[in-house]
Amino acid sequence: MPTKVLMVCLGNICRSPLAHGILQTKVDPTKAQVDSAGTGSWHIGQPPDKRSIAIAKANGLDISQQRGRQFVAEDFERFDKIYVMDLSNLENVLKLVQKPEHKGKVRLILEVLFPGENVDVPDPYYGGTEGFKQVYHMLDQACQKIAAQL
Ligand code: 4NP
Repeated sequence: MPTKVLMVCLGNICRSPLAHGILQTKVDPTKAQVDSAGTGSWHIGQPPDKRSIAIAKANGLDISQQRGRQFVAEDFERFDKIYVMDLSNLENVLKLVQKPEHKGKVRLILEVLFPGENVDVPDPYYGGTEGFKQVYHMLDQACQKIAAQL
């Protein structure tokens, strides 16, 4: 059975679609399945932000077919590992925990690079393209480590 990995941010249009696309290219689909979701509902059914699509494309990755969806409590049952981008995502996801074993599936994604330091992937939505570049780089490094651990 492949390990099921879910990437979570707020809108599911900037950070988690990148994490989703990046990890997908680094893993064998028979070993891992990757998806993404947002804790918010504003962008359900929408493609990723143009700036995320562009930075992915510049790195040889097509994420344009992804569509936004909202994180739901059933995701705790459907996924083995849930990586959130920042501490507010962590708080929002943990609010939906229904069983004690759910909590242990959730991690800040940058824990894999900076254990115990509570480092966020900054939300690039209100900034410029440089922010998207930085986010891409952080997520690429984190996903490299996650793929090696799967
Ligand atoms: P994301 O960025 O959580 O990385 O997808 C955001 C996208 C949209 C909004 C906030 C953050 N928004 O408020 O619509």
